[in-house]
Amino acid sequence: MQVVHTISALRELLQGQTSVGFVPTMGFLHQGHASLIRQARQDHQTVVLSIFVNPTQFGPSEDFASYPRDLEHDMQIAQEAGADLIFAPDVREMYPEGFATSIEVKGAALPLEGEKRPGHFSGVATVVLKLLNIVGAQSAYFGEKDFQQVAVIRQLVRDLNHPTRIVACPTLREESGLAMSSRNSYFTPEQKSRADVIYRALMASRAAFQQGERNAEAILEAGRVVLAREEELKLEYFTLVDAATLQQVEVLGERDHRLLVAARLFNVRLIDNMGLL
Ligand code: PAJ
Repeated sequence: MQVVHTISALRELLQGQTSVGFVPTMGFLHQGHASLIRQARQDHQTVVLSIFVNPTQFGPSEDFASYPRDLEHDMQIAQEAGADLIFAPDVREMYPEGFATSIEVKGAALPLEGEKRPGHFSGVATVVLKLLNIVGAQSAYFGEKDFQQVAVIRQLVRDLNHPTRIVACPTLREESGLAMSSRNSYFTPEQKSRADVIYRALMASRAAFQQGERNAEAILEAGRVVLAREEELKLEYFTLVDAATLQQVEVLGERDHRLLVAARLFNVRLIDNMGLL
């Protein structure tokens, strides 16, 4: 496995490759990231992983400066999962002096995270489009953990006719049910042991659906009851949406639905989601 820091070095190594799978990340890798690498490994001859903490997707009061970083450990996980190449540019390589273009995303990018984190998806879309252009992979792998992000990226490649195929992979969880995330490292062990409350709430709502409830408000209430028991939790949203459009639904119909939640627990911001079936 090789690590490169420049676009030109990466392009040189990938020249002539016709089966490339690409996994974009911000590093501090865990088994959720590794599962994306493994999927890419199964599907392609060459697997490229990018590690870049993208400043433009963080708000001014968010955790860009303190976002965890550990390239040595990342290299170990990437190698074990089967990556061939790590692309780890610095900020100047991605945003050289004079950089003055950004992607404006609407549609799936407007509600939920789009409202809570203004500019976030524009930063994500811009960096992901740059990375897709730089790597020129046949497929790129994203986690359903960031459900709205996948919807925004599908919309981006469709609207701008990008040839890379977007593959969504299931969320990996800790044994407790807590979705794996680089930000879980902000918790003390005691705090982390309480963070499964989000998973338990999603499961309670799903159980209500499985027991025949079809009213969205009643399904959400089953989960809210669970969330309300954790006094350190500050809920940002807990909602049931159309999985394709991210629009809120009131009465469940034929289409695919998704529960989406965002909350702060001990001031760590967590997002998670679950299907109803
Ligand atoms: P990051 O948070 O590092 O996540 C990189 C990829 O790993 C994303 O597609 C994310 O959905 C996926 N992922 C994270 N936790 C996961 C889990 N528990 N199970 C499965 N997949 C998981 O998302 C980003 O970085 C950035 O926004 C990026 C797309 C790299 C653009 O900067």
